[in-house]
Amino acid sequence: MSHPLDPLSADELENVCESLRNAGLLQGARLLSMLQLEEPTKAALRAWRPGDPLARMARATLWDGTEQLVRIALVEVGGGVRDVRDAPGVFPSVLALDCDRAREAVRRDERLIAALARRGITDIDLVHIEAWSFGSAVPAGIDAERRLVWTPMWLRPEPDSNVYAHPIEGLRTIVDLDSCEVLLVEDDGDSPPIPMTPGPYRADQTRAEVRLRDLAIVQADGPSFSVDGWAVSWERWRLRIGFDQREGLVLHDVRFVDDGRERQIAHRMSIAELVIPYGDRAPGAQRKQAFDTGEFSLGIFTNSLALGCDCLGEIVYLDVAVADALGNVQVIPQAICMHEEDHGILWKHTDQTGHVEVRRSRRFVVSSIVTVNNYEYGYFWYLYQDGSIEFEAKLTGIVLTTAGVPGAPSPSATEIEQGLLAPYHQHIFCARLDLDIDGVPNSLLEVESEPLPAGPLNPEGSSYTTRQTVLARESDAQREVNPFTSRYWKVVNADPRGHLGGPVAYKLVPGAVTWPMASPESVIGRRAAFMYHHLWATPNRRDERYPAGEFPYQHPGGAGLPEWTAADRSLEDVDLVLWHVFGTNHIPRSEDWPVMSVERTGFMLKPVGFFRRNPGIDVAPPSGHCH
Ligand code: NI
Repeated sequence: MSHPLDPLSADELENVCESLRNAGLLQGARLLSMLQLEEPTKAALRAWRPGDPLARMARATLWDGTEQLVRIALVEVGGGVRDVRDAPGVFPSVLALDCDRAREAVRRDERLIAALARRGITDIDLVHIEAWSFGSAVPAGIDAERRLVWTPMWLRPEPDSNVYAHPIEGLRTIVDLDSCEVLLVEDDGDSPPIPMTPGPYRADQTRAEVRLRDLAIVQADGPSFSVDGWAVSWERWRLRIGFDQREGLVLHDVRFVDDGRERQIAHRMSIAELVIPYGDRAPGAQRKQAFDTGEFSLGIFTNSLALGCDCLGEIVYLDVAVADALGNVQVIPQAICMHEEDHGILWKHTDQTGHVEVRRSRRFVVSSIVTVNNYEYGYFWYLYQDGSIEFEAKLTGIVLTTAGVPGAPSPSATEIEQGLLAPYHQHIFCARLDLDIDGVPNSLLEVESEPLPAGPLNPEGSSYTTRQTVLARESDAQREVNPFTSRYWKVVNADPRGHLGGPVAYKLVPGAVTWPMASPESVIGRRAAFMYHHLWATPNRRDERYPAGEFPYQHPGGAGLPEWTAADRSLEDVDLVLWHVFGTNHIPRSEDWPVMSVERTGFMLKPVGFFRRNPGIDVAPPSGHCH
């Protein structure tokens, strides 16, 4: 059955694109940057009942290349364009079509062809060119009012070569995306040679002969979850899966059935931004400071997943649909994977009589994987039988490479093969967590552990307590992790009360975090200012969706969280949104080459006084031969 939060289907996208064409908004140099579901308000959702008519709205972000203008159109699915407004002075995320056109222009450029010839490359088809947004200053003489990309390049000596083994150093172009004009060919001249040690990783290039015996996941009775459209029911969890062209995988309306009563935990959870600041001064790294979500709309690059490879066991897949720059709709089959995993033991105790109770932990997994040029990002959400929720990003793929003089010191990169450098960089994620703990309103507390003052309260010097601080306003709620006080944050609902009269809550448990190495005054520091706190909180506003603002492309900075929170709004008893910044600092190892094994980063949400006791106590013992 259809639901207002269902992602836009292929038919709906077609229909919306047709409306945009009919209105003259999508033709010629008028391109579609993004097509998203305009999600209904919470009030509208509360009022909606299954079977009610669905007035589905789509939000189209359009780029008019002639007028150099972003337009936002609200389109009623099946009902035509309802509203159009101009958004002057900003650029949309870069389009796949833009990148294709830029690369074509570069391939035809005589200056580039000559520069390659000076490096001994006479066949342009052997050159892999990528189109990247500027994460640093646009060079003097280039008009930053134009929509630009710069293009690093790599050599592909054989058709199936790993191109990242062969960076072409000291040669880049800058392209105007609208005129498709190559504005500048930057040739540093005396550059390090192209590293020529191959980076083989395909099975037919490596021995790939380390084998284990088969491991089969058998669920003879099928999985323990049921799926109705985009609604999922597993164990005592109820939720809806969503998908967005910009953010990718989204979770909606996450609930847990407690003693027969569905209790809400989250309204909407997503990874609202992902930025990768590079720390090396080589232009090939320094300029690459991509917002993979806000500048590249990573949802478009969602993989089709393969059974037995990406996901193992009894899998249920969901297909998603996306629209490209020209309004062509494409279905990505098997884009979202749902399955169950055995996750070791949930709990165990052997008592004084020798009696043993033990429970297996089963977890529900919903995941998707995107490929953004050299990197893969897996977004994995886990639901546990004790009421916990986990998000884990899985980072894999190939490190960005530049070339250097073999053996020469490189302060900000690892030499992974002779002359092949992997620059230091960070992967910084920002989750947008619209938690509704037993609905709204909610408030935010910080909890820290601290020793009690020496004296009667702490005679032995070993007593400690917790201190709770209400983060009452947005300026209070700009916080960093602190392992020295076991700091955590909890979202509380003061009404209803927990079973002993305290507020019900979920806490955010940070996992791997990092701290930005870029100066706040740098171009990337200004543009991704959200990365200078691990936690932010705001009252929920529909138009406050992305922590670096809606249009980070070539934006000078200051948008998003820093801008909104300057109002210093109250966070007490409001519809609260948490923003959690986490990620990794990647100092590449030779073992990250030629493809890096999965690196993990993420966080957990755990109930605190939400349930009377461990909900995992009610889990049945394993059946069969466990004794
Ligand atoms: Ni990395």
